[in-house]
Formats: sequence, C-alpha cells, structure tokens
Amino acid sequence: MPNLKEAQKRTNKKVLVKENEYFLNDALKVLGKDKKYFIKTYGCQMNEHDTENIKAILEDMSFIETDTMESADLILMNTCAIRENAHNKVFGYLGRIKHLKETKPNLIVGICGCMAQEEAVVDEILKKYKWIDIVFGTHNIHNLPNILNTSMAKKRLEVEVLSIEGDVIENIPVKRDSKYKAWVNIMYGCDKFCTYCIVPYTRGKQRSREPKYILEEVNKLVKDGYLEVTLLGQNVNAYGKDLDINYGMANLLEDVANTGIKRIRFVTSHPWDFTDEMIDIISKYDNIMPYIHLPLQSGSSKILKLMGRRYTKEEYISLFNKIKEKIPNVSITTDIIVGFPNETEDDFNETLEVVNACKFDSAFTFIFSPRVGTPAARMQDGICLKEKEQRLYRLNELINKYSLEANQKYLNKVVPVLIEGVSEKDDNMLVGYTDTMKLVNVEGSKDYIGSIVDVYITDIKTWSMNGKIKND
Ligand code: SAH
Ligand code: SF4
Ligand code: F3S
Repeated sequence: MPNLKEAQKRTNKKVLVKENEYFLNDALKVLGKDKKYFIKTYGCQMNEHDTENIKAILEDMSFIETDTMESADLILMNTCAIRENAHNKVFGYLGRIKHLKETKPNLIVGICGCMAQEEAVVDEILKKYKWIDIVFGTHNIHNLPNILNTSMAKKRLEVEVLSIEGDVIENIPVKRDSKYKAWVNIMYGCDKFCTYCIVPYTRGKQRSREPKYILEEVNKLVKDGYLEVTLLGQNVNAYGKDLDINYGMANLLEDVANTGIKRIRFVTSHPWDFTDEMIDIISKYDNIMPYIHLPLQSGSSKILKLMGRRYTKEEYISLFNKIKEKIPNVSITTDIIVGFPNETEDDFNETLEVVNACKFDSAFTFIFSPRVGTPAARMQDGICLKEKEQRLYRLNELINKYSLEANQKYLNKVVPVLIEGVSEKDDNMLVGYTDTMKLVNVEGSKDYIGSIVDVYITDIKTWSMNGKIKND
C-alpha cells in the first residue's frame, strides 16, 4: 500500500544497480499464452517509456498487443497524478471498463503508474473498485509477472505499491514505439519538491543511472539504426549529483554526442541546475538539438518562492538570454502554472511580462491543481476558478502570438526534418520534426520515412508548418 509520509522521506540508503533482477521462470513465460493486452497511457514521456517497458514484459509472458480495449483479455491503465483532470479521466475510463468486465468476467484489469502511488487513490479502489485485479506502482514494474500471476491464481485484487523507491534495475526489456526515435531514462525520481508537485512522492528519490549503462543503450540504438534519443528525467540537469563520480549532465551530453547518434534532446531542465558547461557542450556538438524545455512556472519572484523553485524572475530571464546568445537558432519552450494560491493580478502580470521578454517558441500552460499531500494544497487560496480560467485564456493568447512569430522565422528557409511517418489527417502528407521540435507537414515520397531530410518551408501556422522536400 502506498503511504505519502513514507514517500516523502529521503534516506542515505545506497542505491544498488541490479543487472539480473527482472527474471521469468518457465511458467511465467507462458502465462499470457493466447491472451491479448491493451494499455492506455496518460502523463509524461516517462510514463510513455514505462509503457514501452511494460509491453515488452507482457510479450515476454506471451501476451500479444491489441489496439482495441474490447478485444483485450488484459487492460492496463498507466496513469498520471500531476493534475486533477488526469485523475478524472482515469476514473471516467474505469466506468467503461467496468461494463466490459460485466460481459467478460475473465477480463483482467490493472492500474499502474503515478496514481497507483497515491494513498487516496488506492483507498478509493479498495472501497469502490474491488473488481480491479491488479494495482502496482512506478517502483516495481519489473515485478509485474509475479503480481499478475498471483492475482490470476487467487482471482482477487492484488495490490503491490512500494512507497520507498527501490534500486536501479538495468535489465528491464523494452518494446519501442518508434524505429527512429527512442526514449532513454538517465535518472529516476526527483528531489526538488516544488511545493505544488506530486512527482517527488510518486517517483521517489533521485537516482541517476550509471553512465556506462546509458552509453551502452545509446550505442545499441545507433547500431539498430535509431536517429534520435531523448534523455529522460524529471530534472536532467541534476544528473549524476547522486552518484559521487564527479560526472554531470555536461559530461553525459558530450559522451552521448560522441556515440554518433544523429540527434539528441533531453527533458526536462530545471533552471536551477543549468550550468555554463552544459550550454557550451550543447553549442559545440551539432547532434545535440538546439531545443530546450525550460519551465518557468511563474514570472513573479514572490510566487516562485512560494513554489520552492529556487530562482527569481530576473535569474530566469538572464539564464534564458544566455542560452539564446550562446546557442544559435535555439528554440526554447516552457511550462507555466496560473492561479497558484493567492497569485494576484500583479503577480500574473509579471508572468505576462516574462513571456513578453522571452517570446517562447511555445508553452504548456496549466491552472494550478492542488495535489493532496503537497504543501501548496494546504495554502489558503482566495482566487476563484473563473479568475484563473480568464488568466489562462489571456496567457494562451500571448503564448500563441509568440509561437506564430517564432514559426514565421522559418518561412522560405530550408531545415532538416526527421520524417516519422504519414500524417493522420492526410494520407498524402508526411510528418516530422525539425531539430528545434517544430512539427512539419511535408509533401514528398513515403521513401523518406525514417530519414532526416532537408525541407523547404512554404507555409506557417501557430502549431505547425508545411513544407516540401528540397530537390524532390
Ligand atoms: N519535472 C518537470 C515537470 C514535471 S510536471 C519540471 O520540473 O519541469 C510538468 C508540468 O506540470 C510542470 O512543469 C508544471 O508546469 C505542471 N504541474 C505540475 N504540478 C502541477 C499542479 N499541481 N498543478 C498544475 N500544474 C502542475
Ligand atoms: Fe515536480 Fe519540481 Fe521535480 Fe519538476 S522539479 S518534477 S516540477 S518537484
Ligand atoms: Fe504524471 Fe507521473 Fe509523469 S504524475 S507527469 S506520469 S511522472
């Protein structure tokens, strides 16, 4: 059972690296024979990547993937706890699954991911959703075969959620969604404890992977023909600080760049740990993408302090300008929360001021959502939802204006685009991303899928652009 108080603790217990922890005996290898699985994933890239691990584990157990919930024998929901609406979506979806289960009693239903790490959620499942079969958390994905086995044998709800993170398991298999782009975890957990955020509780203490395992993984991806890696962590700039090896994010970026992989990006950077050394390395290597996601959260130093972000408005702007100056054509995106407890009109105007100063390439914007157990959820809040919604609207108008402006700089230019596939909207168009993470719809032959090509940009929109392959 999850426990928030336990999850908040940070101990000095040494994190071990385990190379053989994931193991299936012969019986587990056939547990899913003739059965199909369906996974629905919510949340961030970390969760997307966890789903890639879960898929591979299930396939090791002989389950086969299906893309409709109705045809599945096992339905898993990999959930996110970051905001209230993520919660509501999951509970809404569970209603649909319940109907299915009524007509298909042998259907196995599981909940995993960040919501499973929340005490209140598991309590609710135990009270109102007893028909669910398995609940497991973010720290024990490698144990899924045993959890499933126990639940299937006993035909009852099996809950296994660990509040204290475990060790770093290095032999979990992966079934990647793309043949060209890959997620690579470089660290787990987060120790920043921003006052609004649930992640340090659901993902545990910061644990960096040792560089040799990361580099082995990237080298293998290069050999397998992958073109792009995204280095994943909640706060990647703090990479290595828990390892005692005098090796940080700048070192890792340089070593990954030297593997020869064509494109490298990394998410997410906290402004606090962004070093000059990192900026130098990013500008030095052509295969490190000039794209940085640098969450601002608020433009008011007073609110930033209440959020526990450890930087002021001025410090953010000066870091932003330094990055812009030193990395040519860099694209910088951000995250902003409006309506933090007692954010005044003046505080909000300061956020707009920073947006006007930085002119972000784009931004994810959110209304503050109180998360049980976090300090911000206990703060008095005199601002009503309607006011917060209006602020979000005003903020989005400004963000969109600058997104369009940033995109306009690409008109009539030639830019490298990694062509990922065919557009969902138009079968005759290809889609891909520039090295600055701009979405481009491209006219051209399907033979280009899976390669990086020069594209001439012909048309600009707020969230995408159109182009055609040069020389085609
Ligand atoms: N580790 C990343 C962000 C993870 S969560 C970082 O530090 O940047 C992604 C975004 O969700 C955050 O940047 C923040 O803008 C938003 N977010 C997190 N908790 C939230 C909450 N309680 N209410 C609203 N937005 C939140
Ligand atoms: Fe949450 Fe802050 Fe950690 Fe990001 S850095 S995951 S916002 S606590
Ligand atoms: Fe959500 Fe967990 Fe990611 S709370 S944003 S899935 S780390």
